[in-house]
Amino acid sequence: MARNVQPAGQPAPQNAMEALTPEDAAGQENFDRIIAKDSRVEPKDWMPEAYRRSLVRQISQHAHSEIIGMQPEANWITRAPSLKRKSILMAKVQDEAGHGLYLYSAAETLGTTRDEMMDALVAGKARYSSIFNYPTVTWADMGAIGWMVDGAAICNQVPLCRASYGPYGRAMVRVCKEESFHQRQGFEILLELANGTPAQRAMAQDAVNRWYAPSLMMFGPPDDDSPNSKQSMAWNIKRFSNDELRSRFVGMLAEQVKVLGLTLPDDEIRFNEDTKKWEHGPLDWEEFKEVLAGRGPCNAQRLERRRSAHADGAWVREAAAAYAAKQAAKQSSTNAQKAAA
Ligand code: 3HC
Repeated sequence: MARNVQPAGQPAPQNAMEALTPEDAAGQENFDRIIAKDSRVEPKDWMPEAYRRSLVRQISQHAHSEIIGMQPEANWITRAPSLKRKSILMAKVQDEAGHGLYLYSAAETLGTTRDEMMDALVAGKARYSSIFNYPTVTWADMGAIGWMVDGAAICNQVPLCRASYGPYGRAMVRVCKEESFHQRQGFEILLELANGTPAQRAMAQDAVNRWYAPSLMMFGPPDDDSPNSKQSMAWNIKRFSNDELRSRFVGMLAEQVKVLGLTLPDDEIRFNEDTKKWEHGPLDWEEFKEVLAGRGPCNAQRLERRRSAHADGAWVREAAAAYAAKQAAKQSSTNAQKAAA
């Protein structure tokens, strides 16, 4: 497939169309038409190289987040307070693995292999969500993660069901359905704790206090500091800016926390009647940058655990590849026999 080689995030040169081969120019025209109609780009369609790269950047970051995100919750599987809670948590952690797989598959349709993406992750060269670099210190954290982290994921990802790239948008539909279940189970854990003993209630409040700011940071840096948003929105990948989604999320938390009978650790939350938007207090963006730079509370631990899981799983990958090769050899010998007969 012929590709335009304009780098991601850089404006196209004024005479870009003139510089393209006739085949690429036709491809670009078709791509522009698809985006203007708010329709879907599919893997076999021509697409600008910058669009392809930006999608791989976002989708692989997202896939890695799902896989690394299994760790903080898996930490509580053996300590869940009942068999029912244990089985629900196990199912949730497995769902996250499934989300990672759909997303790696979506990225593969753009020409980047899962091995390449995984190699980048274990080499510490790939991003994953900042949120998963915070520790899960009490059982109430399972509730706060479900309610706030999966809640933030839903706010962010429901609009991505309409992302212009077909395989990504379709993967998001199923992911969002499962995230909705996750969010409700987290809310229910917190509700039970909030209505429990004073110690359980205090544990729930403490978890909400600790996860509040990191969950708001999941939406990414403020709009003024978000280098990718503008182009992503022009391509109909992202539908809303980071701040817009963060504001919607704060509004959701502000209402739901009342049902829990807990509070949010932010006195500045308010609905601005003029802008019709929810506002929140300042966030520590220096902390966010530190986490992204690999210096969050659990970055080293999360990466080390992923590396060792990857190394431990080498024999499974080898066995699967050997089996696939054996099946392919068997199939080609059957085909050869059929052709000879
Ligand atoms: N954690 C880590 N990195 C982040 C981040 C975060 N919370 N927010 C932004 N970044 C990174 C971006 O990836 C980008 O880095 P890059 O240019 O090297 O790729 C840089 O910071 C600048 O941010 P931008 O706002 O310019 O980046 P985007 O336009 O891509 O917006 C985003 C960031 C909103 C996270 C967007 O990529 C997105 O919507 N991604 C899909 C959703 C996703 O990845 N969610 C992960 C959450 S975890 C999850 O869903 C698991 C579930 O089980 C809870």
